[in-house]
Amino acid sequence: MAIIIAPSLLAADFLHLSDACQMLNGSEAEWFHLDVMDGRFVPNISYGPAIVAAICSQTEKFCDAHLMIEEPEKYVEDFYKAGVQQISVHMEACPHLHRNIQQIKSFGIKAGVAINPHTPVHLLEDILADIDTVCLMSVNPGFGGQKFIEHTIHKIEVLNQMKQQLNPALLIEVDGGVDLNNADRIIRAGANVLVAGSSIFKAEDPISAIAAFKNLSA
Ligand code: DX5
Ligand code: ZN
Repeated sequence: MAIIIAPSLLAADFLHLSDACQMLNGSEAEWFHLDVMDGRFVPNISYGPAIVAAICSQTEKFCDAHLMIEEPEKYVEDFYKAGVQQISVHMEACPHLHRNIQQIKSFGIKAGVAINPHTPVHLLEDILADIDTVCLMSVNPGFGGQKFIEHTIHKIEVLNQMKQQLNPALLIEVDGGVDLNNADRIIRAGANVLVAGSSIFKAEDPISAIAAFKNLSA
């Protein structure tokens, strides 16, 4: 399966989001990764449904909302209306995860579960068949530009084995510290979606950086 590149707009220039959208529209990236932070689940605040709606209005590409927020059920409808095609919630923020997933799916969009670096992948066993994507955090969520946590490679391999049994169509998304030096190993371990913020938006030529990610998986 070809690797999907999901640039994180958290690393874009917020004064010129429209330019970032046009750049990505003209690139080989398939997804827009939209990081929503509430200052409670994570120690940072990013943007909410209004900005997400503005971004979605600028692209035909697949918009993937990564909700790093508590009580995500209060906002799922708002993000659906904003125009995203997938919503991922954090297992650590959801004591009623199965209900959260059903709520997302009730809007006819895809549902994902994100897990923090310390959360074991085997805790996904009883939800794996119900979801489209697992977002494995390879940094502690809250900020762009952090260093990739190596142990994630092992987690990708274990999750890849679990998915063969439980949900072969599952997408394994890896988020945080992904760059052109570690992407090859992440792909070989079994990842399907690479989220990349700094390594794309801080690159001298973001379009070429995206092309380089795609070449790694060719
Ligand atoms: C971190 C976010 C990531 C982040 C990735 O909490 O979930 O999506 O934007 O940024 P980089 O690629 O810079 O680590
Ligand atoms: Zn993210």
